Amino acid sequence: MKPNLQIALDSQTLAEALETVREVGDVVDILEVGTVLCLQDGMEPVRALRALYPEKIILADTKCADAGSTVAKNCKDAGADWMTVICCATIPTMEAANKEIDQLQVELYGDWTFEQAKQWKEIGIEQVVYHQSRDALLSGETWGDKDLDKIRKLVKMGFKVSVTGGLDVNTIELFKGIDVYSFIAGRGIAKASNPKKAAQDFKDKIKEIF
Ligand code: 5RP
Repeated sequence: MKPNLQIALDSQTLAEALETVREVGDVVDILEVGTVLCLQDGMEPVRALRALYPEKIILADTKCADAGSTVAKNCKDAGADWMTVICCATIPTMEAANKEIDQLQVELYGDWTFEQAKQWKEIGIEQVVYHQSRDALLSGETWGDKDLDKIRKLVKMGFKVSVTGGLDVNTIELFKGIDVYSFIAGRGIAKASNPKKAAQDFKDKIKEIF
């Protein structure tokens, strides 16, 4: 299976997100209401995207840490198929969220262990997102073998592993030979001078490499 392309809509306003999605919505596979936008506008962007794209997978990147059941119900009611929890959330929070939403993704930031990952698998979580945080990238971190080794190990454990954080078309090559589930790009598409072309370039690169 070729990796999916997911756009992360991390804009400050719904209007800005809609401007981007109008250009790239038909090119990408998954629409993400980014954490920044969820914090600004709540579930309103999820409702708007669901109305515009009844058939697309919509993810609410809530990075939920608690009240898993309530947050997941709210996401689902607004029209989201998937949502995210942060990796330091407790197992009961993850279990509660997982019951209410079609698919739950665990966002891997900071300190987490493969022992925890085993527990996530045991409670039926299928997806994780391997993340280079914006702030890590700003402080000089880059993608490297340390990341690729962990991604390979998560794939081997049976997770669908998405990757994200400062991706551009050239970064895709780094993941050659790894069963990445989705590439999640925000600024690399939304901030490009021609977002539609940028999204198509990502798709073409994915096709070339995988
Ligand atoms: C930040 C996120 C971003 O939406 C995701 O990583 C995409 O960001 P970028 O603009 O670096 O491609 O989840 O927490």
